[in-house]
Amino acid sequence: MAKWRNTPKSWGLLTVFMHWLVAAAIFTLFGLGLWMTDLDYYDPWYRWGPDIHRSAGILLLVVLLARLVWRAKEVIPIPHPAHKRWEIQAAHVAHLLLYLLPIIVIISGYLISTADGRAVSVFGWFEVPALYTGLNKQEEIMGDIHEILAWGLIIIAAIHSAGALKHHFIDKDTTLTRMLGSSSNKEERG
Ligand code: HEM
Repeated sequence: MAKWRNTPKSWGLLTVFMHWLVAAAIFTLFGLGLWMTDLDYYDPWYRWGPDIHRSAGILLLVVLLARLVWRAKEVIPIPHPAHKRWEIQAAHVAHLLLYLLPIIVIISGYLISTADGRAVSVFGWFEVPALYTGLNKQEEIMGDIHEILAWGLIIIAAIHSAGALKHHFIDKDTTLTRMLGSSSNKEERG
């Protein structure tokens, strides 16, 4: 039977699925964000690009919140016993930022889009109304926050990915394979 829930030694399939869905969405939204802001006014993607970016961002926020609720309910697998203290502490800080930054980036994006009082349409399925428009120069300020924190998020995600690849290819431990759904307990043997 599929193991949907975490155990003290492995990540459950729901955690694994949400981790990779969020990672793929963040890298795609970042690429789309850079590309669409460079488009010419007469390019057909000039409108569709931001529509997709905004809609997918709102849906991603729902997934991020679901992920946090699920994490709070679940047991967290213990780190590999061979990991050094500083590595474990650095990973904790990175994980905290990887949970927090996407939420702030999406909220700042929402505050850019709704600064003029217009709602955000999510793929035409439903609308999220403008809840706050009271900040002076809201569009510019939120635009700066959105861009700077998005870059910060991508840099931290790149360092986090390099750490996972280092554990896999250099230390040859199970850190990466267990986030790919493997329930191997090799880590017990250190
Ligand atoms: C924007 C992209 C990404 C985000 C936001 C992200 C976020 C996270 C977070 C928050 C955790 C902590 C899970 C927890 O303790 O609840 C985690 C764990 C993990 N991530 Fe990522 N991640 C991203 C990309 C990647 C990539 C590209 C890789 C691999 C190359 C990767 C490999 C891992 C592994 C192996 C773990 C488990 C670490 C452990 O067992 O302690 N992640 N990720």
